[in-house]
Amino acid sequence: MAGSVLQEKVAIAPDDGASPRHVAIIMDGNGRWAKARGLPRLEGHRRGVESLRRAVRTAIELKIAYLTVYSFSAENWTRPFEEVQSLMGLLHLFIRNDLSELKANNVRIRVIGARDGLPSDIVGLLEEAERVTKNNTGLVLVVAFNYGGRQEIAAAARALAEKVARGELAANQIDAEAFGAALYTSDIPDPDLVIRTSGEKRISNFLLWQAAYAEFVFLDVLWPDFSKLDFIAALDEYAQRDRRYGGVETQHAIKTAS
Ligand code: IPE
Ligand code: IPE
Ligand code: MG
Repeated sequence: MAGSVLQEKVAIAPDDGASPRHVAIIMDGNGRWAKARGLPRLEGHRRGVESLRRAVRTAIELKIAYLTVYSFSAENWTRPFEEVQSLMGLLHLFIRNDLSELKANNVRIRVIGARDGLPSDIVGLLEEAERVTKNNTGLVLVVAFNYGGRQEIAAAARALAEKVARGELAANQIDAEAFGAALYTSDIPDPDLVIRTSGEKRISNFLLWQAAYAEFVFLDVLWPDFSKLDFIAALDEYAQRDRRYGGVETQHAIKTAS
């Protein structure tokens, strides 16, 4: 059965409306994966990086245009110091080890989230990853790191308020479009599909504004176990959904970045 789903999905053209242009993933369940095996949480995160690698390859293969991955939330700083350190270390390793392959695979990396408060070596790596892939034209891999949706919205409100205070913008020009343009994601289309692994059914401060009309797929699989077939099954479920955007008819029209 799994094999036939695979073949069917690969055959779907990338922009026939049944395939999401932008998939966002809340990669959850590393800790529980490790705990179930009597391993330290760090081992779960290590396996989580392997799973991320696999998901990126699948996204390339399936010609998904944008893949956003939630890799560290603004609230994850509340975890024990050692765990935060190891997550920073893994990001470091991921960029060091994988940047050349990502570059060769025509992947463009974008990082969203606050840079303030991050260690300077991490900021340097994130900037390097964006810089060396900026002319690539394939998959856009959006890494949400030190990201919080509420913080992003508050920062956008602050930036717009400052423009109003300087007389560069009239308050009545602030509408949903202007607001969206002040977010980190101003040049990235809204996610069509948000996948969360691990069985939790919540948004955890991820893309609060952008996911207004996203479809959600919650999977019981823990992130380190998330396979290509799980990815395809989530896309398959998405293809069955009826997106109406508040109207009465199904719309497959894909919104473009503002
Ligand atoms: C997701 O796995 C990774 C990050 C949040 C960085 P968790 O570490 O949240 O795993 P669980 O939820 O404890 O199983
Ligand atoms: C969301 O997972 C953040 C990431 C996957 C990076 P969490 O594990 O931090 O979320 P909660 O605490 O279960 O809501
Ligand atoms: Mg978790």
